[in-house]
Amino acid sequence: VVQQGLKNKKVLITAGGTRELIDPVRFIGNKSSGKMGYAIAQSAINAGAQVTLVTGKTNLQPPLGAKVIHVISTKEMADAVAENFEQSDALIMAAAVADFMPENYVDQKIKKQAEDDGLTLKLKKTVDIIKTIGGQKHAGQIVVGFAAETQNLLNNANKKLNDKRMDMLVANNVSNDKIGFNSDDNQVTFLLPGQEPEQTPIMTKHAIANMLVDKISHLFNE
Ligand code: PMT
Repeated sequence: VVQQGLKNKKVLITAGGTRELIDPVRFIGNKSSGKMGYAIAQSAINAGAQVTLVTGKTNLQPPLGAKVIHVISTKEMADAVAENFEQSDALIMAAAVADFMPENYVDQKIKKQAEDDGLTLKLKKTVDIIKTIGGQKHAGQIVVGFAAETQNLLNNANKKLNDKRMDMLVANNVSNDKIGFNSDDNQVTFLLPGQEPEQTPIMTKHAIANMLVDKISHLFNE
């Protein structure tokens, strides 16, 4: 581990899941607990970084020393990232971002009607935060994404690495309850352009966060 490997670096980290409102009381969400992103924020602080943590709703206490920005929707997360990316040296997107949102928000609670046997929601795509940022980054800025996959982990992850112009991608299999969403442990494969994939054993999210921070500090020194 490189001691203070991120000293004087400004690191922007996203954590938790985003929520898309259907009506005033309902939303589309996902199973992200924020544990992975918060662990990365803690590791980056330990390595000397100035951390801004953009977080969806979680039950976690943010690490001491992080500047915390709370968001609910993908749009709010996108705005917070856009506002803070320019002055950051690295962006790490561990958040589970909604890919779809209701096409229309209904501003009163949707009622069941006697004649209804169901409800059809029409969804539209949300903005892809990391892809937008990938197109704006300047020399020296490092963008790290995650890939949550349930099948064809490496193929799908490699496609994301290229499409979203990331400097590093951390792929995890989210079909196993013991790793991925909400667990204390994870198992990831680090993908860097032009390098062989590197799979970790199952480890705590804190240990994975330390490995990730170490890899990022090496990228800065290249
Ligand atoms: O929070 P935990 O319970 O600890 O769980 C951790 C985790 C499983 C959420 C985390 O390890 C993880 O995999 N995060 C990424 C989840 C995700 O949205 O993956 P994706 O493969 O759908 O997206 C790929 C990348 O694009 C991600 O970096 C994501 O943040 C980003 N993205 C996705 C959609 C979108 N509209 N905008 C984005 O920027």
